[in-house]
Amino acid sequence: MENVIHIDDPEIEVLLDDFIEIYGYDFSGYSKASFKRRLQRLFIMDKMVNFAEFRYRLQNDRDYFNHAVSEISVNVTEMFRDPVFFKTIREKVVPVLATYPLVRIWHAGCSSGEEVYSLAIILKEAGILNKSILYGTDLNPNVLEKAARGIFPMTAMQQYSRNYLLAGGREDFSSYYSANYNFAKFDESLSQRMVYSTHNLVSDFSFNSFQLIFCRNVLIYFDKDLQSKVLSVFDKSLERFGFLALGSKESLRFSGIETMYEMLDGKEKIWRKFK
Ligand SMILES: C[S@@+](CC[C@H](N)C(=O)[O-])C[C@H]1O[C@@H](n2cnc3c(N)ncnc32)[C@H](O)[C@@H]1O
Repeated sequence: MENVIHIDDPEIEVLLDDFIEIYGYDFSGYSKASFKRRLQRLFIMDKMVNFAEFRYRLQNDRDYFNHAVSEISVNVTEMFRDPVFFKTIREKVVPVLATYPLVRIWHAGCSSGEEVYSLAIILKEAGILNKSILYGTDLNPNVLEKAARGIFPMTAMQQYSRNYLLAGGREDFSSYYSANYNFAKFDESLSQRMVYSTHNLVSDFSFNSFQLIFCRNVLIYFDKDLQSKVLSVFDKSLERFGFLALGSKESLRFSGIETMYEMLDGKEKIWRKFK
């Protein structure tokens, strides 16, 4: 049976052009293999009959296009993801941030906000949350709505609590949320210091200057040129002596800005700008 759904490379190029022309979304710098895989998945999931139908929906139905964007952007995240990374932030970065009168932090590609809540907890425990503002941005507005609500599944709390302890947490993790049936609603003292808005790293510029920028597990989906372009946006947005934190498989190497940064401890992907 000829039921193997296949979108070939020229068709992918056609969709890339449509996305730019119709919606202004430029995915051309995304790693081709993963972009193709995500579109194939969408095609099958939505039971498309052929490429023409798929393209027509994407061209003419904005809601469907938004749904496709959600599918293309991988939103997997968790609280205190890579706990040792967060421990290093707690021990080596936060004491420096504490010396500033106002602390501005940007979480680029923050997904549904678990990363932002994790840092907010660390800042609260260091007594500097009240003078901090955490800007969470993402391409996908659906995940940002979740982030602003601060409601996460109860089933994840056990693992998040373990991560929190491994990240150097000493409190009772459950004191940060109230449990309501299957959901955990995080304390408003945390979300009050957060500002969420859509921001596309491919096409939008810096919107402030920061002492700490997180962009974890996002660049991994971009090709080298796009990585360099985005890293130079971060460089322009970071104050001198500010910190840049990437995901465990990401790096500043070959980006053109690496000569102005030094790694904090040689292990975690945290750099400090010294020029
Ligand atoms: C795998 S999640 C990482 C979430 C979080 N930073 C973490 O490490 O757990 C990647 C996020 O990057 C976002 N993203 C992908 N392309 C983007 C772009 N061009 N601009 C902004 N965010 C983007 C996705 O929507 C997704 O929420």
